[in-house]
Amino acid sequence: MEDSTTAAKRAKRTLRVAAISGSLRRASANTGLIRAAAKMCEESIPGLQIDHVDISDLPLLNTDLETAGGGFPVAVKAFRDRVRGADCFLFASPEYNYSVTGSLKNALDWASRGSVKCWADKAAAIVCAGADFGGGRGSLHLRQIGIYLDIHFINKPELHVRAFDDPPKFDAAGNLTHAESRERLKKVLLSLHAFALRLQRKEE
Ligand SMILES: Cc1cc2nc3c(=O)[nH]c(=O)nc-3n(C[C@H](O)[C@H](O)[C@H](O)COP(=O)(O)O)c2cc1C
Repeated sequence: MEDSTTAAKRAKRTLRVAAISGSLRRASANTGLIRAAAKMCEESIPGLQIDHVDISDLPLLNTDLETAGGGFPVAVKAFRDRVRGADCFLFASPEYNYSVTGSLKNALDWASRGSVKCWADKAAAIVCAGADFGGGRGSLHLRQIGIYLDIHFINKPELHVRAFDDPPKFDAAGNLTHAESRERLKKVLLSLHAFALRLQRKEE
């Protein structure tokens, strides 16, 4: 059983969230979810810090780009280091043809290579913005991919924003403007925080 000093120290430690958007669009609603989450953490969720990890400069995965000694291209190495250094993950991805985007799958695959398990044993949350199901079918595929990578996703609450329905949820730049969705996003972040702390405690 954890003593009160250790518990207090843990509560004070800031967990670093590597947040990855599956959309490379400038005005992406999904990247907008990450921006909103980052601001929310700064303003009202002590103990959780969002670091947006840009995946747009990753090359398409080709194992010919890996060197015999286990080396990776510079952008891939930097990406893998950020994944490894994170305490947990926040994925925000549109659904492309009922699955995750190719860009996100590419990033997941790059950090799955080599002997170091970059993703394993960490908590994660998925949020998404899309059309009729709000991108929810893609998020189910992401959960499936996470099985082999050993990522532990929170189950609830879910946030699948129906981006094209009234009332508007995002402005033209992809900023989340919808109060109800913002409230739900905050609940997702609180759930991620609590679950990540629980998981880390079990590993000690
Ligand atoms: C190739 C492609 C496939 C898509 N497939 C789906 C889909 O299966 N389901 C869905 O809800 N939206 C689909 N969309 C629409 C996206 O959800 C929509 O463009 C969304 O706004 C993209 O998110 P972003 O604003 O973060 O870029 C698709 C878009 C593209 C470009």
